Amino acid sequence: MKIVHVSSEQHPFIKTGGLADVVESLSRHTAKQGHEVISFLPLYRAVRESEWFAQAQRRHSIFLQLGDEAFEGEVYRLKLGRRLALYLIGRDEFFDRSYPYGTKIRDYSDNDARFIFFCKAVVDTLLRENFHADILHCHDWQSALVPIFARVEEAYKGLQVGMRSLLTIHNLAFQGVFPDRAFDLTNLPSAFFSIDGLEYYGQVNFLKSGILFADGVTTVSPNYAKEILLPEFGCGLEGVLQKRKSELHAILNGIDTDAWNPKTDIHIPVNYTVRNLDRKRENKEALLKRVNLPKQPGAPLYGLVSRLTDQKGIDFILKQRSFWAKNNVQLVALGKGDAKLEKGLKRLGQKFPQKVHACFDYDEALSHLIQAGADFFLIPSRFEPCGLNQMYSQRYGTLPMVSRVGGLADTVVDALENPESGTGIVFSPNEKGLGKGLAQSLKLYADAKRYRKIQRNAMARDFSWGISARDYENLYTELMFGDSQTFSP
Ligand code: ADP
Ligand code: GLC
Repeated sequence: MKIVHVSSEQHPFIKTGGLADVVESLSRHTAKQGHEVISFLPLYRAVRESEWFAQAQRRHSIFLQLGDEAFEGEVYRLKLGRRLALYLIGRDEFFDRSYPYGTKIRDYSDNDARFIFFCKAVVDTLLRENFHADILHCHDWQSALVPIFARVEEAYKGLQVGMRSLLTIHNLAFQGVFPDRAFDLTNLPSAFFSIDGLEYYGQVNFLKSGILFADGVTTVSPNYAKEILLPEFGCGLEGVLQKRKSELHAILNGIDTDAWNPKTDIHIPVNYTVRNLDRKRENKEALLKRVNLPKQPGAPLYGLVSRLTDQKGIDFILKQRSFWAKNNVQLVALGKGDAKLEKGLKRLGQKFPQKVHACFDYDEALSHLIQAGADFFLIPSRFEPCGLNQMYSQRYGTLPMVSRVGGLADTVVDALENPESGTGIVFSPNEKGLGKGLAQSLKLYADAKRYRKIQRNAMARDFSWGISARDYENLYTELMFGDSQTFSP
């Protein structure tokens, strides 16, 4: 099969969250299975300045119409491996910036033009390169216009861009909603600006277009696939999703078990396996030393690595003042994002300097050390499409403490409800729920035998891509033999 991934992030080139990990490992895994796989990424400044860019080959210039104006750009190709390549869509005015989507304060005001340009460039490049994709696999709102652009282009030109398209929703909270004038930049027939098209309460909604016009839609965990059909989690698109319910599939994310392996991890000082779990303690000591926290005998160490946004329930952690005050516990937090949450974590650290340390950075190596060194890993999200950290932590024998939502509920077995098979602690997605979970963790930590049993259960779980990649392959095949989605609005 010829598979094309279109995404705004891909590890190690650019990453703000799990999307980057998923696109990278899924594309590599499917290429290994014998498929020809290419992916598309905007040529951000970070990519242009990276060591990899020197090896990229310039392919051609592009001239794309956005509204009445023609925009020029350039396309590069970088070979990543056997049957695996990355295409970079360049236009410095759009992508030569410090961040992919916006500054800390606000999103870039021209994100509509930036990602319309990106989606058009993907379609244009596929035609020029005569790639004849079997599957156009788009991820999130930034690439969600590709299915409709491809179909309209095919209708005009009589050439095939791709046989079938698939949209994966990694996070419904981000939809790419822009003022109605963004529609002009798409150059789509005006009939598409309607309730059965891109129109959304008078605005333009990119993700809605993908949900309606892709041949198939997936999301990243079975539980989230159910949740998003409800108003509570549907972020206003539950009605649109209901319409495509029969084509909505759930495929749980896998993880890169080479990069996230305590036995071989290059970012941690002491490698370990389930057979010499005692050595994990040396990573805890290294982590405490690294962040200048004292060794506190008997204190469980909680880890947190997260984008700092409302989604992640960081405020629930901040509200557990008496827990941090009264107990012999420690916390290492690593995260970037919302200024208010950064401030809150900083204050917690100032209030309890012997117990809490927070780093406001993006630090891949430290994230691995936290996974290896912590005793518990906190993920008290309000919603979580899948979540990767809880899978990493189980692999590292670090017990995840997660809200009972989305993929977290699918991947962590609560140890209280399942004493034999438990792999972590699962609680309600609110302040009280986290409070209960923290109280439980203290009891669990005090019972070394039970704690060790849960660690072993956790480390025995298999979250590798094998099963999920096969599910994608089966779905690709099913789509190719099924009907294509109608694209008239
Ligand atoms: P999301 O995509 O919603 O942020 P996931 O759990 O799917 O959540 O993926 C988050 C990924 O980003 C993980 O690989 C995590 O380790 C990483 N990550 C998040 N914040 C940081 C940070 N500040 N430094 C290093 N890695 C981070
Ligand atoms: C999103 C979600 C996260 C998921 C990731 C990869 O960022 O917030 O839950 O794991 O995408 O699919």
